[in-house]
Formats: sequence, C-alpha cells, structure tokens
Amino acid sequence: MGQQTRVAVVTGTNRGIGLAILRTLASGWAGPLVVYAASRSGTLPSGVSAQPHVKVLPARLSLRDPDSIEALASRVAKEQGVVDVLINNAGVYHYREGISDEERAETLETNHRGTLRMCQAFLPLMRRPGGRVVNVSSQAGRLRWFAPHLRPRFLAKDLTLDALDSLVREYDAAAARGDEVRLGWPAHAYSVSKAALNASTRILAKEHPGVLINCCCPGWVSTDLGAQAGPPPKTPEEGARIPLHLAFGDIGDVTGRYWANDSTADTGVGKVQQP
Ligand SMILES: NC(=O)c1ccc[n+]([C@@H]2O[C@H](COP(=O)([O-])OP(=O)(O)OC[C@H]3O[C@@H](n4cnc5c(N)ncnc54)[C@H](OP(=O)(O)O)[C@@H]3O)[C@@H](O)[C@H]2O)c1
Repeated sequence: MGQQTRVAVVTGTNRGIGLAILRTLASGWAGPLVVYAASRSGTLPSGVSAQPHVKVLPARLSLRDPDSIEALASRVAKEQGVVDVLINNAGVYHYREGISDEERAETLETNHRGTLRMCQAFLPLMRRPGGRVVNVSSQAGRLRWFAPHLRPRFLAKDLTLDALDSLVREYDAAAARGDEVRLGWPAHAYSVSKAALNASTRILAKEHPGVLINCCCPGWVSTDLGAQAGPPPKTPEEGARIPLHLAFGDIGDVTGRYWANDSTADTGVGKVQQP
C-alpha cells in the first residue's frame, strides 16, 4: 500500500524563512505531499523546484484580510478535506521605536490577530490525532522583556483568548498615548504581538487536544526582517529548521509550548523553553 499523502499549509512563502521552508519541502520531502504556498501575491516564487511526489499549490492570503483566510480554509477543505500541518510563518516587524499608529496596528493585526484567525479557521480541518500547527514567534516576545507585574497576566492558567485580546488592547491604548514603556511594556509592538502569539498557542493547545500546537523562535536569520537589527548569523534554511522539526519531526506529544535554541545563532532543532 502506498504512503498516505500529507497536506501542509505554509504562510509567507514568497521570501525569507517561509521560502526556505517551501524549498526544503518541495525538494527534500520523502513521501507524497501537497503544499499550499500562501503569500499576499498568490503566486509561486521563481526557482522552487518540486520533486514529482510533491505538489506545490500557490494560494493568496493576507493576514489582515479575514475573508482571504476564510477563502483559503474553504478551498483547502474542498480540495483536501484534511490538513496535516499548518505553519504560520508570515509576520511583520517594524524594527525601531516610535513607529506610527498604523505600523503598530499592522504589527498587532498581522502577528497576533491574523495568525490566531488562521489557527481558528484551520483547526476544524486538522487531522486528529496527529495534526500539527506551528506558529513562528520570536525571542522578542519572551516575557523577560516585560515588567514583572505583566508576566503573570500572560501566563495565567485561566487566560482566555478574549482576555488576551483585552491585554493587547490595553498595551495598544498605552502605546497610543506614548506611555507604554513607563507602564512596563516592551519598547516594540512586535514583542507584544509575539508574546500574545505564544499565549494564544498555549490556550489553543489546551482547547484542542489531538492536535500538537507549538510556537518557536527560528533564531536570528538573514532575511529582510532579520537584517533590520544587524548582520544575522543564520541562513534562511537554518531558520527553517525549528519550524520544520515542530511540523514533521519527533516531538512526542509536546503541545502548547515555546521552542528555541539556547542562542539565536544556534542551528539546532530547538527545545522547549520558557516563553
Ligand atoms: N528573521 C529573523 O531573524 C526572525 C527572528 C525571529 C522571528 N522571525 C519570524 O519569522 C517569520 C518569518 O520572518 P522572515 O524573517 O522570513 O521575514 P521576511 O523575510 O520579512 O518575510 C515575512 C513574510 O511574511 C509575509 N507577510 C507579512 N505581512 C503579511 C500579511 N499581512 N499577510 C500575509 N503575509 C504577510 C511577507 O509577505 P510579503 O512579501 O507579501 O510582504 C513575507 O512573506 C516571522 O513571523 C518573523 O516574525 C524572524
């Protein structure tokens, strides 16, 4: 009997880490695989060559457009019925202080709310048991960058998605007044968006046993986003390693956790760390 075809959805595949994930799957995956390569343009980047047993399908997606998320989920449901792997890689970072209200809104909408919407749209389609969701987060979202009084609010065992969104709105209002750092929030909206992503990963994992839902920092990677902070030590292929491990590797039954290497330059497959 032939191997079962796996179905994967990967976001932000037109460049950076998402493109490296797509290239690795297209050229190096051993069994039959269908990959939905989602990007804002909806086209496949040039130079992606797939082995005969891997089908790469371009898909249009904007994380700021809920209709495009629903449309992609409906299309995949119709064409495949079930999804084995969802890698939420797409994200945005305006790496400087004093970003505009629109840049802050883009950051929170894309990294926090858009990625959460992707999870909520695809979770009903995930294979049970055995489906995997990987949310590509960042060490910038670790709670060590938040004042001690804020940390327990993100870690509360009874935190709900609504309460989490209220927490993000509280940050947003403080940032709009220019008061966020005094109140203990990190200087970058990106950090808050990724801390929220780590928390929503934990909440969703609790709500959806049977699907392994984890988040990770890919390390400091040479992409448009990573290069804003200086010369990154890792290649996009090395940055793809932890997300691919969480999506396809042996992770036992670990779910709801944040994975990273000890240093952002390390090229290992990561381990569970404190968010
Ligand atoms: N590079 C690093 O050092 C580093 C470190 C920690 C975490 N990360 C995380 O790794 C992930 C990938 O980052 P990267 O370094 O590969 O960045 P990148 O090269 O800047 O690529 C970002 C990707 O996200 C897509 N994207 C942005 N906003 C979107 C939206 N509203 N809807 C749909 N797609 C959107 C972009 O699409 P367009 O091309 O259409 O803009 C692009 O494909 C991100 O989640 C990032 O936060 C990266």
